[in-house]
Amino acid sequence: MARDQRIEPADEMPDGYRRTMVRQIAQHAHSEIIGMQPEGEWITRAPTLRRKAILLAKVQDEAGHGLYLYSAAETLGADRGDLTRRLIDGKQKYSSIFNYPTRSFADVGVIGWLVDGAAICNQVPLCRSSYGPYARAMIRICKEESFHQRQGYELLMTMMHGTPRQREMVQDAVDRWWWPSLMMFGPPDAQSPNTAQSMAWKIKRHTNDELRQRFVDMTVPQAAALGVTLPDPALRWNEERGHHDFGQPDWDELKRVISGDGPMNRRRLDRRRRADEDGAWVRSAAAAHAVRTSRAAGPGTGGLDGEA
Ligand code: 3HC
Repeated sequence: MARDQRIEPADEMPDGYRRTMVRQIAQHAHSEIIGMQPEGEWITRAPTLRRKAILLAKVQDEAGHGLYLYSAAETLGADRGDLTRRLIDGKQKYSSIFNYPTRSFADVGVIGWLVDGAAICNQVPLCRSSYGPYARAMIRICKEESFHQRQGYELLMTMMHGTPRQREMVQDAVDRWWWPSLMMFGPPDAQSPNTAQSMAWKIKRHTNDELRQRFVDMTVPQAAALGVTLPDPALRWNEERGHHDFGQPDWDELKRVISGDGPMNRRRLDRRRRADEDGAWVRSAAAAHAVRTSRAAGPGTGGLDGEA
């Protein structure tokens, strides 16, 4: 680690490192999968064929991100089915941001701009995270997240050049998503139990507050170019610091949302549980097919799933 070399699956590692990696990667994977829901609800209501095609592709990308991440967790000995069970049973977390409702199509644009923008700020440094499979998954994910961010911004720009009602919808969505987006970076450093150890292990490369500041600095000029205001009276440029000063989100709200009491928590998990139950027959059919194919291929011929 001191030489900045990557840790690979077969390397020895402290139990705490393995546990922390599984925790973070699983939470991240769950976030991608649950994150399909708020925007997925708008696929059937997209205003044009072009917007529908873009949104479908974006939601499918999130499924792909979940898949890379569950695979990365499996390299540490975790079992994907077990991780999903823990999510559904409320024993593992997923990002707070996906527990808020999407009220209009402008929310799709704002999620792209702010939520994917925050995700990029957080995840680009994770491309240099110390665990190899996670860092490599992150490179691919970040490329796709950049596209997501741009499509959101382009959608908002189009709406801002539209009717007064469309501009109102954008501003309303910005007002609702701004504070939850700042919360995505986690609690303030002084209240973050995991940051110090994760920085020492080079899992995290920056603290929660550093990344939140970077996000605010990046977003303020974009808001000005769009013509929207950010709902924070304390937001202003600080010449001395060379950064924007900004207000604090409601940290009690973050605690409530993380502990399962956000506006949409129950609905998100119910839907995930139903999807898991509805998909059970597909998983068992796929497993049976893999066994049959590997038997038919015979030993040593590299059948689909080996001796599965
Ligand atoms: N939502 C839910 N839980 C959160 C949270 C949030 N916004 N912020 C922090 N937490 C949880 C932590 O996971 C930790 O839980 P645990 O110790 O009980 O497992 C606890 O609150 C304390 O927070 P810490 O700051 O000590 O925790 P971390 O050091 O793990 O930092 C993190 C939190 C910055 C979110 C970090 O885990 C991280 O960078 N994770 C990878 C990125 C990620 O998961 N992103 C998901 C959101 S976006 C996305 O992926 C979808 C995209 O398409 C938009």
